Amino acid sequence: MKDAIEKLKKNLQELEVSTAEQLEEFRMRFIGRKSEIAGLFGKFKDVPAEQKKEVGQQINALKELAQERFNTFIAQINTSKFQANKPHDLTLPGRPDELGSIHPLTHTRMRIIKIFERMGFNVSDGPEIEDDWHNFTALNFPENHPAREMQDTFFIEKNPDITLRTHTSSVQVRVMENQKPPIRTLSPGRVFRNEAISARAHCVFHQVEGLFVDENVSFKDLKDTLYHFAKEMFGQHTKIRFRPSFFPFTEPSAEIDISCLICKGKGCNICKHTGWVEIGGSGMVDPQVFINCGIDAEKYTGFAFGMGIERITMLRYQINDLRLFTENDVRFLQSMNQLY
Ligand code: PHE
Repeated sequence: MKDAIEKLKKNLQELEVSTAEQLEEFRMRFIGRKSEIAGLFGKFKDVPAEQKKEVGQQINALKELAQERFNTFIAQINTSKFQANKPHDLTLPGRPDELGSIHPLTHTRMRIIKIFERMGFNVSDGPEIEDDWHNFTALNFPENHPAREMQDTFFIEKNPDITLRTHTSSVQVRVMENQKPPIRTLSPGRVFRNEAISARAHCVFHQVEGLFVDENVSFKDLKDTLYHFAKEMFGQHTKIRFRPSFFPFTEPSAEIDISCLICKGKGCNICKHTGWVEIGGSGMVDPQVFINCGIDAEKYTGFAFGMGIERITMLRYQINDLRLFTENDVRFLQSMNQLY
């Protein structure tokens, strides 16, 4: 009997329990009515009388020990269950919110607008789906004239009069049809051309065009305005150059170049070793356009200009691939955000 008690005691002390099933096994083996300890009580009657007191105390101590261990195991299992199910560790620091950032093209557009707003320009908007009149005809592109080919765009077969605008000059037509001079307006927006997508071209891009109509507006005003813009946008040392060009809606017309920001005019890969990079087109509004829009061409003169927002952003931040603007790579967008 004493040996059996010793053996059970040792078992009891050595056993470890970590799951609910093991706990139940433990209960059946040491605590329940058919447990080994209960069995010891059953055999108690066979213990010789002189040992009864001692053996009785030992069995009772064993029973207490079993109960004690049982209670400890219950507590342990409950604690670990709690930890496993706990949804959050409330003592961990919080996760920072990931804030979005302003897209580089939006940032450039806002900067351009700010510069021209200080010169008294307002901002006007127009539809991206245009009709032939506003995109071409009113701007002096005769039907079937090769000038239309410079701005090949997307038409629908059913109604060739409807087109995706190729430039925001169409907005200027709408402004001139609806407002009386003096007009000083800027039209930023998305434009479309039939171009294969590459590092330098895209079938969708953004422009800002400007229009200034008043009495006695001269080419000098055009030069002054764009010179001021170039210095504000690209830095005070920027130089500007006009190259004769052709647009159906301006006469005379000129391409606008700025001195290369990278080599400061000395010549590098970006400016193809010329020291100059093109930022847009410009010119004095052709009187025929005024007539088309119902503005007195004898009384008023004006100038217009247009530039690509992608192009200006690429020059300013030395980005060499246009596709980065539409790929939505967060690493690119975040690195850009650190520059403004
Ligand atoms: N609309 C012309 C283009 O998209 C740019 C331009 C605007 C040129 C105004 C002259 C005057 O190519």
